[in-house]
Amino acid sequence: MKQKKLLYAGKAKSVYHTDVDRKLIVEFRDDITAFDGGKKDVLMNKGSYNAEVSAFLFEYLMKNGVKTHFVSMIDPRHMVVRELEMIPLEVIVRNVAAGSIVRNYPFKEGTKLDPPVIVIDFKDDARHDPMLNDDLIVALKLASPAELKKIKKVALKINQLLFALLAAQGITLVDFKIEFGRQGKSICLGDEISMDSMRLWDKKSGESLDKDVYRFEKGDVMATYNRVAQRITKSAKKR
Ligand code: C5P
Repeated sequence: MKQKKLLYAGKAKSVYHTDVDRKLIVEFRDDITAFDGGKKDVLMNKGSYNAEVSAFLFEYLMKNGVKTHFVSMIDPRHMVVRELEMIPLEVIVRNVAAGSIVRNYPFKEGTKLDPPVIVIDFKDDARHDPMLNDDLIVALKLASPAELKKIKKVALKINQLLFALLAAQGITLVDFKIEFGRQGKSICLGDEISMDSMRLWDKKSGESLDKDVYRFEKGDVMATYNRVAQRITKSAKKR
């Protein structure tokens, strides 16, 4: 497969056309950003840790009946995916109160959220990703009511599967963000699932094992990403 021209460059990934119909190549770059792009760095190998974890988690989800865009890895930072018509929603599933939900609402950090809370933001950098509700999503024609229902159902299924996988490795899945796209009439998981998009706490120590280490300068970011990538992929290999 040949990489062709750039389709889209985000904050940490670039997406390229290929010479194969409806297949794209996602490059996981070493760029890391936080606070709406206000903090930026380049950390060596970050792209490959995130790509490795994303590939493992996509494969695990697919084995368990979740449709994803994942096809294969070309090398440690280049992933072949199916082209989707992306839906500009950031679907966040929360099992434990942390991050913006604690800043914006009277939740105490660490409070268990049972049932999990789904929050959907509008993926729109210029507007700083404002939170949506069902009526706004439909009125803005971002998704139909049936698609929205499906997106929430799949998001909760993904949450159950990831929560169990990570728990087996002594990791609490606090929250995560996923994005979906359309392939024909079906809804398919796209983007990535990595330490950049999940909030993970060590069950025993409560230590952050994700981008919060970068956001809040809690330690060596790449040492953490490396360790957590090994823990996660070890658990996926067992299944
Ligand atoms: O910042 P907040 O607490 O709302 O983030 C919830 C979860 O969604 C975190 O795991 C965070 O890493 C992820 N997220 C993301 N991309 C965004 C916003 C949040 O991956 N643009």
